[in-house]
Amino acid sequence: MSKKTIITYGTFDMFHIGHLKLLKRLSKMGDKLVVAISTDKFNEVKGKKVMIPYKQRAKIVKSLKFVDKVIPEKNWEQKVKDIKKQNVDIFAIGDDWKGEFDFLKEHCEVVYLERTKDISTTQLKKSLSNFMSIPKEDIINAFEVIEVLKKDFE
Ligand code: CTP
Repeated sequence: MSKKTIITYGTFDMFHIGHLKLLKRLSKMGDKLVVAISTDKFNEVKGKKVMIPYKQRAKIVKSLKFVDKVIPEKNWEQKVKDIKKQNVDIFAIGDDWKGEFDFLKEHCEVVYLERTKDISTTQLKKSLSNFMSIPKEDIINAFEVIEVLKKDFE
């Protein structure tokens, strides 16, 4: 029986549980999972500001036991070439892209998977920004209150 290859594309910045669940589900759809990760330059083209540089994002994803190969995503146009080169059977991506890649159906199967709820890199960046804007004194005070409360329970 021939082996099934899956390909997916994304930035995978500030790697989170939504990314992990998606990649795990993708790996179960076939035998080989190829992940194309957007380079820093391509993210600039997309208007996305990344926190973690490409080399590190690629290293993190490549180290997952269910990811077989990582390739760079350098532009919008490379997908057909990648599908042919990697012998891809299924192109799959989160459903925030629903319909966007239907034009690839003449080359392979196209699947949109449901996203994990309530988490995204954008949300993490916002939380970080809120967190950083908390005045230092408030954080120190909060820890002092915790210490007092802890003593009450001793
Ligand atoms: N993804 C997912 N569930 C989430 C977040 C992302 O399944 N909660 C999927 C996306 O649909 C995509 C892949 O993970 O197929 C990579 O998405 P990426 O855009 O890198 O992550 P986001 O967290 O969506 O980042 P951003 O907020 O910058 O768009």
